[in-house]
Amino acid sequence: MIAQAESVRGEERLEPIRIAVIGTGARGCDLIRALTTIVAVKIVAVCDPYGPHLERGWQYAGPLARTFTDHRKLLDETKPQAVVVAVPLASHFDICRDVLDAGCAVFCEKMMCYSVEQARNLVARVEEKRAVFQVGLQRRANAIYRQAAAMIQTGMLGRITAIQCQWHRHNNWRRPVPVPRGHADFAQLDRQRNWRLYRDSSQGLMAELGAHQLDVANWFLGTPPKCVFATGGIDYWRDGREVLDNISCLYEYEVTPRKPARGQTPVVGTNEEPYTVRVSYSSLQNNAFTGASELILGTHGTLFLSQKKGLFYRESLPETIDWSNRADKQASVVTSGKTLKLSNDPWAHHGAPFEIDSESDDTRDELVSFVEHVQQGDRATICSARDGLVNAATIVMANDSIEKRQTVEWLPLNG
Ligand SMILES: NC(=O)c1ccc[n+]([C@@H]2O[C@H](COP(=O)([O-])OP(=O)(O)OC[C@H]3O[C@@H](n4cnc5c(N)ncnc54)[C@H](O)[C@@H]3O)[C@@H](O)[C@H]2O)c1
Repeated sequence: MIAQAESVRGEERLEPIRIAVIGTGARGCDLIRALTTIVAVKIVAVCDPYGPHLERGWQYAGPLARTFTDHRKLLDETKPQAVVVAVPLASHFDICRDVLDAGCAVFCEKMMCYSVEQARNLVARVEEKRAVFQVGLQRRANAIYRQAAAMIQTGMLGRITAIQCQWHRHNNWRRPVPVPRGHADFAQLDRQRNWRLYRDSSQGLMAELGAHQLDVANWFLGTPPKCVFATGGIDYWRDGREVLDNISCLYEYEVTPRKPARGQTPVVGTNEEPYTVRVSYSSLQNNAFTGASELILGTHGTLFLSQKKGLFYRESLPETIDWSNRADKQASVVTSGKTLKLSNDPWAHHGAPFEIDSESDDTRDELVSFVEHVQQGDRATICSARDGLVNAATIVMANDSIEKRQTVEWLPLNG
């Protein structure tokens, strides 16, 4: 959260950087809208082969942006410093490779690559080019999640014993195709517009939704999973799609306990032995009741997290913690819409709600952070290509498990 506060101040110090956006569909336009609010950004070009999307992207980017239907031409003719890549998953690798070869910094939407092999290859290229590279997993920039990470780091939750997360929606993901079924172009346009529904262009719910939440688990636990068992099916939207409409996963993580910093309360039950944390994840497309959130369960307390709200509930542990003289026995609240009041020492807030300025938009915040890193030539972005590789491997292993109907072990990632 401290980084975010610095980012907001830093925006004004920066020289504008020349950015191009490749892929001006739904997400590309969100990103363009956010970029136009950042003083330090000049959008020089937008690119999309699909006319209506290119037109909309250009409308948002403004009349100074040039338009292209071929990204290589864009790179050649406009020589941007940085490029935002928001194309369908199966094209992330090819386009990022070309952008890196053109010497640009890259902001690539999640999930970073369709396959682990591609992700490994991309990490090697990013390292070889010494490029600034950030993956669009925006919870890493979200003030609530950053505060949660600090609370975990300082031991407020005790030992994390489980994480439960889900993203439940009620929609079919299908987008309208601009020609009627039976038209000669229908199949091709359907594949383009509905790339999420087909297996050769999509890793389904795990990639489109789960990537965000498993990234939170990897980040908070400080390690990738050891193994996963997952199951899922096309049990409701039987409309010709190839990706599953519901998924349930159980990951196991082996966590090495951190030693408490000087002056911090030791974590209950911690010894030097690694221990297992189970992370459950579920995604549904036929019931939205529980929405999208994560519960981080610890021996001292529980965090409920979502993009706009976070709540912290303390466990009552009279034998280990004396809460008797504290006003906040019940729950401390991390809420949205308040002034930023964060500290490196979350304990400093005891007795009062945690207040986090999450009126800010995490998509904008992640872009502000990216722009700063580009300006400063700082490769340590909030979500590096290596984080993107770990994320992609975490997702792909769950899909493998579903396909094979067996537990899949984590494979070492060299590269
Ligand atoms: N971080 C988030 O919260 C978030 C949210 C939604 C989508 N996404 C990600 O953003 C990416 C795009 O998703 P979307 O919903 O915008 O899809 P979309 O289908 O709405 O848009 C993709 C666009 O890319 C264009 N495109 C395809 N090939 C191209 C190429 N070679 N060059 C330039 N443009 C090309 C398509 O014509 C389309 O307009 C995906 O990776 C998705 O997972 C991230």
